[in-house]
Amino acid sequence: MKIENKSVIISGASSGIGRAVALQLSKFSNRLWLVGRNQEALEEVAALVRKNGSVCEWSVTDVQDPVAVEESFQLFKEKFHSCDMLFLSAGFAELTNVEKLNFQFARAMMETNYFGCLHWILAALPEMQKRNQGIIAAVSALASYRGLPQGAFYGASKAALSNCLESLRIDLQRQGVQVSTILPAFVDTPMARKFDYAMPNVWSAEKAAKYIVKQIEKGKGEIAFPWSLLFLMKCVRALPEFIFDPLFTKISAEAHKKGNSLTR
Ligand SMILES: NC(=O)c1ccc[n+]([C@@H]2O[C@H](COP(=O)([O-])OP(=O)(O)OC[C@H]3O[C@@H](n4cnc5c(N)ncnc54)[C@H](OP(=O)(O)O)[C@@H]3O)[C@@H](O)[C@H]2O)c1
Repeated sequence: MKIENKSVIISGASSGIGRAVALQLSKFSNRLWLVGRNQEALEEVAALVRKNGSVCEWSVTDVQDPVAVEESFQLFKEKFHSCDMLFLSAGFAELTNVEKLNFQFARAMMETNYFGCLHWILAALPEMQKRNQGIIAAVSALASYRGLPQGAFYGASKAALSNCLESLRIDLQRQGVQVSTILPAFVDTPMARKFDYAMPNVWSAEKAAKYIVKQIEKGKGEIAFPWSLLFLMKCVRALPEFIFDPLFTKISAEAHKKGNSLTR
């Protein structure tokens, strides 16, 4: 189904993948509700969306706060009535340092990357079920396929999200609600640029957005890219412990030796 003349809520619309998806959808006369915390950035994206011919409003909302999400959803409904699609991209990533594990940090990552999506799903889903239509698309990560070095907290939050979406996809299909899990490897965004590791086959946010929208329109449940890293991660996922552990223990030791200022 072409995403045209639809009402779409986009979290994480102020930057990176969410911003690029907003701009991609703005070319097809959609009504976009942009969500993020950075008002200036949301205003900038909204101006570009309107220039492309779509209707647009923004809402400064922290996705960690369920009350704020519900309020934002009610305001959305006053303006645009019903929600045809949720595109949930709000998230953050940092590496985990096993020498100073920090519960607050683990919780914040879960609150944004997992519960932040759930808050929106809980707000918008009942009406989608009533109408027997709607799309829920959320950005997880290929890194959620396995426990990777320095990824304890980020990987866990994304694995929770991927697993939750997969279950919802199965249960909601008969009610006409499409659930798509987006699993990027590397996309060139402010978040990815913070890290100083190599990013093979990195895609631009624009290329990722075009691909994501096309695959959602095709009704795909899992949208993973690029193919080369999807294939690699599928192989890694299938590795038995006696191969996975020595291989990744070595990679972990090298990462530790190198150090990374973004580990917490
Ligand atoms: N880039 C990659 O290589 C890559 C790879 C795999 C998965 N991903 C996933 O893709 C998604 C988008 O990331 P990105 O690369 O586009 O990063 P980004 O450019 O840093 O964008 C992150 C977005 O999330 C929003 N956000 C973060 N915390 C929020 C909160 N508490 N409440 C509301 N909004 C919040 C930010 O908005 P404000 O600052 O305005 O709040 C921003 O719009 C993330 O879920 C990320 O985990 C990215």
